[in-house]
Amino acid sequence: MTTSFTAPKGTFDLLPPRSATFLAVREAIAAPLRLAGYGYAETPVFEDTALFERGVGESTDVVSKEMYTFLDKGGRSITLRPEGTASVLRAALEAGLQKGPLPVKLWYAGSFFRYERPQAGRYRHFSQVGAEALGLDDPALDAELIWLAAQGYQRLGLRGVRLLLNSLGDATCRPVYRERLQHFLRGLDLDDETRRRVEINPLRVLDDKRPQVRDQLAGAPLVADALCEPCREHYDEVRAMLADGGVSWEEAPRLVRGLDYYTRTTFEFVHDGLGAQAAVGGGGRYDGLSESIGGPPLPGVGWAVGVDRTVLALEAEGVELVPPGRVRVFAVPLGEAARRELVRLVARLREAGVAADLAYGQRGMKGAMKAADRSGAAHAIVAGDRDLAAGVAQVKDLRTGEQRSVPLDRLVEELS
Ligand code: HAM
Repeated sequence: MTTSFTAPKGTFDLLPPRSATFLAVREAIAAPLRLAGYGYAETPVFEDTALFERGVGESTDVVSKEMYTFLDKGGRSITLRPEGTASVLRAALEAGLQKGPLPVKLWYAGSFFRYERPQAGRYRHFSQVGAEALGLDDPALDAELIWLAAQGYQRLGLRGVRLLLNSLGDATCRPVYRERLQHFLRGLDLDDETRRRVEINPLRVLDDKRPQVRDQLAGAPLVADALCEPCREHYDEVRAMLADGGVSWEEAPRLVRGLDYYTRTTFEFVHDGLGAQAAVGGGGRYDGLSESIGGPPLPGVGWAVGVDRTVLALEAEGVELVPPGRVRVFAVPLGEAARRELVRLVARLREAGVAADLAYGQRGMKGAMKAADRSGAAHAIVAGDRDLAAGVAQVKDLRTGEQRSVPLDRLVEELS
């Protein structure tokens, strides 16, 4: 009988063999970051609710609809982190890292939680690898981070990832643009909820996918046309450096992100094999976030890659990262003496870096060979008392069925 429990709605379990791909994705995204001097950060999976309210923004869907918020037994309002940037910045400020050498470069990986309507690629519990560079508003950092994410996707062998790029301006030019946009949007035929959104978060309306709204947005003013001189220069430099670095992108003048803290450079990596949830990663600059969570002025830029969606993108492209099979060698002992010998041998194989396993439990030769086949190993080592007496074991190629006798003291060398 199976249990009557299942994974909660909007979540899934990671189990072999698919789980190996998740690990490989995390590693491939993190590796370029480590090479660029980003240090690993880990923060709690829950924080004070107000951190996200102030950091991510109360008018966002993430904060207003999607947070897992509860009172703990001490009466504190706690929220499971819906994203990582506010937490990482909070941690850096709490430790005073902004007083040391800048930029502070951090990367992180872990679970995030959003109470979203589940669908393919959209989960209530999901996994990100993220990176943040704090303390400088140097456009070279924006370009570096974008380049590093692109490297990660490339390392994975993904070919269909596109980079969408925009600038959202700053505290000087964005308010002017916002008003201009509101003025335009107020003249449209919109439902009540969208009208409310025009007043609270007008940039989000640009992102509305419904055709009746889309059609009316054709003539909307674009933030790209409203950038102040410093923002324009910053954006030009980012683009020049991306071009130098061989990164290609598409201008996305209507790209607005679901979190309120963005300023200037914003971007999303999308993959066309994923249907509606096409974003495999996203990020941007957030030069005002520190102040909104009560910190000193501290510019920052970063991104997060969605591990779950990146795995879906790999599957959509038919890329296999991890060779199938748990181990390369599977040992089948016939009899107690052989078992002791093969346990030692398997340990030596593992020390030599060869993935190896052994038939555990008292099953006969037939059951043990079946286990060897199921393990996906390329070779089985079979040994009985008579082999041991002769100082050999039989090495069987599990694909061809070919078998040969190998001296025990040569086995590790032969199989490495
Ligand atoms: P985000 O765009 O909300 O940004 O999330 C980044 C990525 O996480 C998305 O592109 C997507 O791949 C994945 N993701 C988000 N929500 C879900 C979900 N419900 N199910 C599956 N995957 C999901 C951030 O979180 C920012 N903190 C990124 C950032 C870092 N900006 C600056 N620094």
